[in-house]
Amino acid sequence: MTSLAHPLDPLDPTELATVVSLCRADHRLGDDPRFVWIALAEPDKAALLAGAAVGRRADVVVIDQTTGTSITAEVDLEKALVAMVTPLDGLHASVSYEEWTGADRVLDNPEVAAALALRGIDSSTRLHLEPWPLGFGDPAWGGDRRRLGRVTFFVREHDEDTAWARPVENLVVIADRVTGEVVHIIDGEVVPVPTDPIPIVDSDRRLRDALRPLTIEQSEGPSYTLEGNELSWEGWQLRVGFHPLEGLVLRDITYDDPETGRRRRVAWRASVSEMVVPYGDPSPMNLWRHVFDAGEVGLGKNATSLSLGCDCLGHIDYLDEHMVTEDGSVATIANAVCIHEEDNGVLWRHYDAATDTTEVRRRRRLVVSSWTNLGNYDYGFYWKFSQDGSIEVEVLLSGVVLATALDDGVEPAHGVQISPELSAPHHQHLFSFRLDLDVDGVDNVVEEVDLLAAPSGPDNPMGTALITEHTLVAKESEGQRRGSAVAGRAWYVRNRGVENALGQPVGYKVVPNASPILLASEGSPVAARAAFASHHLWVTAYDGDQMRAAGPFPNQHPGGAGLPSYIANDRNLVDTDIVLWLTCGTNHVARPEDWPVMPAARTGFILEPAGFFARNPALDVRPQTEVNPGVSCRS
Ligand code: NI
Repeated sequence: MTSLAHPLDPLDPTELATVVSLCRADHRLGDDPRFVWIALAEPDKAALLAGAAVGRRADVVVIDQTTGTSITAEVDLEKALVAMVTPLDGLHASVSYEEWTGADRVLDNPEVAAALALRGIDSSTRLHLEPWPLGFGDPAWGGDRRRLGRVTFFVREHDEDTAWARPVENLVVIADRVTGEVVHIIDGEVVPVPTDPIPIVDSDRRLRDALRPLTIEQSEGPSYTLEGNELSWEGWQLRVGFHPLEGLVLRDITYDDPETGRRRRVAWRASVSEMVVPYGDPSPMNLWRHVFDAGEVGLGKNATSLSLGCDCLGHIDYLDEHMVTEDGSVATIANAVCIHEEDNGVLWRHYDAATDTTEVRRRRRLVVSSWTNLGNYDYGFYWKFSQDGSIEVEVLLSGVVLATALDDGVEPAHGVQISPELSAPHHQHLFSFRLDLDVDGVDNVVEEVDLLAAPSGPDNPMGTALITEHTLVAKESEGQRRGSAVAGRAWYVRNRGVENALGQPVGYKVVPNASPILLASEGSPVAARAAFASHHLWVTAYDGDQMRAAGPFPNQHPGGAGLPSYIANDRNLVDTDIVLWLTCGTNHVARPEDWPVMPAARTGFILEPAGFFARNPALDVRPQTEVNPGVSCRS
């Protein structure tokens, strides 16, 4: 089978079906394999860059349902064979859909029924069960050999009720995901189940007057072109990929530079590698909560369909994404990726007093976005390409905060009261972006640049002098960096083998937003498991097998995988192919205004050319009078 697909394109439905049938025919994948995910195996970067033909291969993760063993396989689509099968010893694949929906088996357990009955809940009560990854657990539960998960409970009597408004407090069931067997029950103090189902959309709610229409009209269509997964716009070119765990994967990002006449690479691959949401409430109900939404659940698998006029405005192109379900059938997420252009205010401007004239250019952006739903939370991922060579990455966080039932008169010690009956535990949302930047070639280096006050002295008599301090990140043991908003710290990725017209090494800089890092103590389980989140930046030497900040299989993993192990050999990072892993996120001290659905919060960062060009690359943007017919820009 020879594929017509580009080597970097996601697997199409035919390829997915082929992979499934090859795996089904191979007994090494177990007697009853349930497919957790299948994705394009990372193609050989060096071979692709050298222009060699690279065959399509698939990464497969299954759970043998007869034993609960997780198994990985690699399928060679060209040769139509299962090339490699590896049972995971003591490691566990991420949670499958079926394990998510199969949680209600715990209701058959008499002890669980008794614990619910103590809280006034019987079989006539409509419950919403919310399964969670284990986090960490008692070794006696056997998590090293069996697939374990946690189940929590909410009362949801009507469809319009907010599923998370009526938590059943202090009851957590740990169950074997394969057999459904209840392994342990955390059954603490009985707290009355909150009574208010506060619907997000309530037909009885008085709505404010509707705004007048705002219509985005692109009468001649958009200015980008989309051919298959290849997207081109204003000199930018990239391929839009998608992965079951990472969601959006942007590949081979290049810029066609009229000044040098060259198509110049900026990045080979960029994605969310991992994320973690550690909760800061030490009660047994919440102590274990720090879900890895990428590696344990799947940002891509849980992407939601987007709708025109609501998620995206204007002329929209969508990409459908295809995922395999447990039984090996192919499910299509229609409109999973939205591509559109938007106006973003002023790009550059200058008023010249001598001539009383203003030159102003408006900024247009190309936006590639996707939304994921993970239980109570919804995350939006936006990659925004601009005419000045910058790429802004924005994550939107919305949905419903995790709330716990407040016992009468009790002040929450580790959270904020958000409604008469509820408190929201403090928590963090920390994302790890894996950025395989290749600035004008693969051989790059990272420099940390701070702006500092120079020491006072004869050369600095008034103490006003400012200098930049440059720290070369020479090897992996030096690659863990923290941001400094005070110093305006940025990380420059330079290619010292290519100069701009000023004779400077070309570069891009990573401009982090002021962002938290993991706050939990060094010795905590989450610090071991989510070590990536303890620094704003990690730098590693490129290795196509090193893709996941918390390791390829964080589910039930005790920690140490991913970045801490990737840097173990302390490889050289100077003038070689390097990968940046950027942590950004938010501290969520909830507000009453976050309830019952939170206004979108934001985090992200900017990639900005820094000496990549020798002057403003957007000087050639045409005035608005030439962009929008009829516009006169008069005051
Ligand atoms: Ni939050």
